[in-house]
Amino acid sequence: MYNYRNIDPEKCEFVDITDEADLADNERLFVEVENIRVVVFKIAGELFAIGDVCSHDDGPLGEGDLEEYDIVCPRHGARFDVRTGQVKALPAIVDIPSYPVRVAAGMIQVGLPKES
Ligand code: FES
Repeated sequence: MYNYRNIDPEKCEFVDITDEADLADNERLFVEVENIRVVVFKIAGELFAIGDVCSHDDGPLGEGDLEEYDIVCPRHGARFDVRTGQVKALPAIVDIPSYPVRVAAGMIQVGLPKES
C-alpha cells in the first residue's frame, strides 16, 4: 500500500539527509523532511528509510527494537519490514511508508514522491 520503494525514482524528489559517513552500520537516524518524520537505518551496509509513525496508533516506531529487518513498535508490538514497510504482526494491519534511499556525492538522500 505504501511501498514507495517501488515508485519510479524519476517520480521522486531526493532530499539530502546527511553525510554518508555520519551513519554507521546498525545505527539509525531520525529526520523530518517536509513535515514527514522519517527514520533511516543502515543494516549490513544497506540503507533503508521508513516513516517514523506506526500505522496502529501513531506510536514512535523508529524507537523500536530491530530484529534483522523487522522493526517492533515500542508501544504495542506491531512489526514491520523496514525494507518494504509491510506490516508483519498485529495489532497493526496497515503498511507504513518505505522510501527509496540512495547515496549521491557522499550524501544520503531519501526520495519522496513528487506532488503531481
Ligand atoms: S502504536 Fe504501534 S503497535 Fe500500537
